[in-house]
Amino acid sequence: MLKIENLNKSFDGVKALNDFSCVVHENEIVGLIGPNGAGKSTLFNVITGFIESDRGKIEFNGNVITKYPSHKIIKLGISRTFQDLRLIKQMPVLDNILLCFNHQQNEQIQNIIFRPKSISKVEQDNKQKALDLLRYAGIEDKANDLAGTLSYGQQKLLSIICCLAADSKLLLLDEPIAGINPEMRDKILTIISELPLKGKSVILIEHDMDFIMRICNRLIFMDTGTKVSEGIPEEVRNDPKVIEAYLE
Ligand SMILES: Nc1ncnc2c1ncn2[C@@H]1O[C@H](COP(=O)(O)OP(=O)(O)OP(=O)(O)O)[C@@H](O)[C@H]1O
Ligand SMILES: [Mg+2]
Repeated sequence: MLKIENLNKSFDGVKALNDFSCVVHENEIVGLIGPNGAGKSTLFNVITGFIESDRGKIEFNGNVITKYPSHKIIKLGISRTFQDLRLIKQMPVLDNILLCFNHQQNEQIQNIIFRPKSISKVEQDNKQKALDLLRYAGIEDKANDLAGTLSYGQQKLLSIICCLAADSKLLLLDEPIAGINPEMRDKILTIISELPLKGKSVILIEHDMDFIMRICNRLIFMDTGTKVSEGIPEEVRNDPKVIEAYLE
């Protein structure tokens, strides 16, 4: 589904990605781990067109998307969350989700801002889908609250729901459980675990090893922009190179 070949990206001489290559198959959850500054979020930024790579190739379902802008990449079926969430905090929860539906986005934005009297069938359907997603996540009672009034854990959950609303084939989740309570963590674990059953693949960045070990089919460990180890979770966790990097 996703094939990345020899990606390179430097920031002022600092190599954030150094000949990084990997593949992601259909219906799998790949864990991307590594110390702070390893280049994990940069990889997401480059895949999703937020940052242009210096060199390398990204192929998604047969399309070379290396130079594509982010809106085109979302349309092709890759969506993401951000480490810093980036919800629109002054807007209701429901509207944050509606903005993420993957078609007629211009119309969607205008409708949300200007509220025309006749709401299109598409918008009604999307509203229903958004409410269904909120119910699935167990926060349907928050639909009309401003996103900024949700707890931090609920905001993390909302950012995943927004990602689901795009109905993408590949979801890139950047630290979806960092800093949240165990109950919310379990809820998010269930939601992510169910994604392959819905025909979706995931790359998951997370520092919590226990979470990673419970949820991932495969792990990639990176350090200073380079892939150091890759394989089934047990193998990677016990790789001496990985143990050494975590103990440094
Ligand atoms: N937009 C940017 N401008 C300049 N330097 C950047 C930028 N984005 C990332 N970097 C640098 O690239 C390197 C990799 O950063 P990145 O955010 O990808 O790491 P990370 O693995 O996601 O770390 P963390 O676990 O702390 O989130 C770091 O040295 C970082 O300072
Ligand atoms: Mg990061």
